[in-house]
Amino acid sequence: MSASEPPNTPVDWDGIDPNVPNVARMYDYMLGGKDNFAADRDLVDQVLRESPWVQAAARHNRQFGGRAVEHVIRELALTQFIDIGSGLPTQDNVHQVAQRACPQACVVYVDIDTVVACHARALLATDEATIFVVGDVRQIDKLLHEPEIRELIAWDKPVVIVMVAVLHFVSDDHDPAAIIDTLWSMLPNGSAIIFTHACTDGVSADEVATLTQRYRQTNAPVYARSKQEILGLFGDKWTWLDPDRGFDDKLPDEPRRVSDGLVPVQFWRPHPDALIEETAGNFIGGVAVRYEPNTTAA
Ligand SMILES: C[S@@+](CC[C@H](N)C(=O)[O-])C[C@H]1O[C@@H](n2cnc3c(N)ncnc32)[C@H](O)[C@@H]1O
Repeated sequence: MSASEPPNTPVDWDGIDPNVPNVARMYDYMLGGKDNFAADRDLVDQVLRESPWVQAAARHNRQFGGRAVEHVIRELALTQFIDIGSGLPTQDNVHQVAQRACPQACVVYVDIDTVVACHARALLATDEATIFVVGDVRQIDKLLHEPEIRELIAWDKPVVIVMVAVLHFVSDDHDPAAIIDTLWSMLPNGSAIIFTHACTDGVSADEVATLTQRYRQTNAPVYARSKQEILGLFGDKWTWLDPDRGFDDKLPDEPRRVSDGLVPVQFWRPHPDALIEETAGNFIGGVAVRYEPNTTAA
């Protein structure tokens, strides 16, 4: 169960209504972007007055995504990415980070929001190896069968699913564990999920309730979960990249996998010169690997 369970709110993903705070635009504002309206900024300002740590947590979340892309290319040699809940284009978008490390990398961006779609089609899908598709993570099976995705991605090779700060928009009613399980069934062996989720650990019940209440005013309620609940979404089949390995360490012959690789995102393989801020609350994240010995493809 989520720590706090707002009622199911009808979500309007198609209307560009400047008066309803929109989670993609609010996140853009938190990261210092300009693609947002007064209603987005007002609500973020209120959230930050009540929970100032949220801004650093958002920044750490974004930086984690970039680091994790670099690491899966280097350590797992993976070069195909499907970034679900990609958000508004900002700095160091997945295809830019990936293609810097591996020019052949291909990236599918996916988001449910038509505001994001307009920007992403113009600013992200700028080469043949980078496309944008409108889709819903809650319909993961349908999404991964979209013809444009089938065409770009080679399904006999491992794939990286990027689900950074998106699964906390999925209520228990929409069964996030089943989404992860479907990915296990559909992805070739050796695939990975770059994952983060808003976490309630270390945050008081009152503060969680207030944050939840604020996000009920947006186009997408948030369902923050405890670390135990988040780890539980993966069951016991997935293993995790060791979050403690440094980028400059010599690569092991086999990637080092651990049974629990979810940590506050700023502590996941930080760059040696990074300023690591402790924050009152956190996104937690890690890289889950679909690995079955003696299997080449799912
Ligand atoms: C906080 S932003 C995260 C952006 C980016 N992944 C990052 O972390 O930098 C969350 C994004 O998830 C999208 N989203 C929310 N629910 C979704 C769903 N059911 N399917 C696909 N995208 C969704 C929102 O539209 C928004 O753009």
